[in-house]
Amino acid sequence: MLKQKDLLGLKDLSVEEIYEILDTATEMKKIILSDKKQSDLLAGKALVTLFYENSTRTRSSFELAAKYLGASEVNISVATSSVQKGETLIDTGKNLDAMKVDFIVIRHQMAGAPKLLAENVKASVLNGGDGMHEHPTQALLDICTLREKLGKIEGLKVAILGDIKHSRVAMSNLFGLKKLGAEVYMYAPATMMPKELERLGAHVCKSREEAIEGADAVMGLRIQLERQNGGLFPSLSEYSRYYGVNDGLLKYAKDGVLVLHPGPVNRGVELTPQVIDGEKSVILEQVTNGVAVRMALLKLLNEYREANL
Ligand code: CP
Repeated sequence: MLKQKDLLGLKDLSVEEIYEILDTATEMKKIILSDKKQSDLLAGKALVTLFYENSTRTRSSFELAAKYLGASEVNISVATSSVQKGETLIDTGKNLDAMKVDFIVIRHQMAGAPKLLAENVKASVLNGGDGMHEHPTQALLDICTLREKLGKIEGLKVAILGDIKHSRVAMSNLFGLKKLGAEVYMYAPATMMPKELERLGAHVCKSREEAIEGADAVMGLRIQLERQNGGLFPSLSEYSRYYGVNDGLLKYAKDGVLVLHPGPVNRGVELTPQVIDGEKSVILEQVTNGVAVRMALLKLLNEYREANL
């Protein structure tokens, strides 16, 4: 069983909790792949998605996860909500509590917003991405996909390339993969490489080839233009040429290397279209596993709530 009411980051999860989520996701995937896609595990429960930033995958997969498990779900469109009249995050959360909501999934541009909300509501809060801090469900679905395809996480070499500095996906993957015994190699333009990576256990590489050499998996990251002030690289075409991943570079990796990307992909920038659509790519399988992982989290957090609250 999970040991907390909320899912805020992979930094907070134990190895046992991560494996419990992964094992439960494997069970949940059977529901997704069945004809009915229906279970009553969360019948009578309610989930709200509260996204202060745009999303396709995270929001819709949480909403589908709730539906597949028999819960009610509703989205609050922040752009047309009372947030625009000045309502605070905590007041918004307390009003959702008053409606007897069980789960709030939040995405926010401010690191720490999910924690602030979690400390002030009875509902379980799930972090759908906060600023440059963490995106725990993305890393869990990435790790789920790696384990499903490669059979283990311990001992894997995972190369992460791209806009690491602005990437909450990179941080959550680093925490999760290191906890499970993988080695994480990172490469980015110097302007997109945070200083603390080595202290956090990453291997900081001087070239794409060094990062990819012998890798079991290569993860490209989206350039987070919305979190940059510009001037971090000369042009998109030069970024693609000097920092992107193409089929030629994948020859440095192990045979059978997997290519991952959290999406949305800037086609031809972080990865070439041939890599995105090629046989090594598991990008769409990541999306399927995203629903399974989110179903698993809702099931496990509900068990925690029934036992402790
Ligand atoms: N990977 C991810 O978070 O995608 P969305 O922004 O579409 O949710």
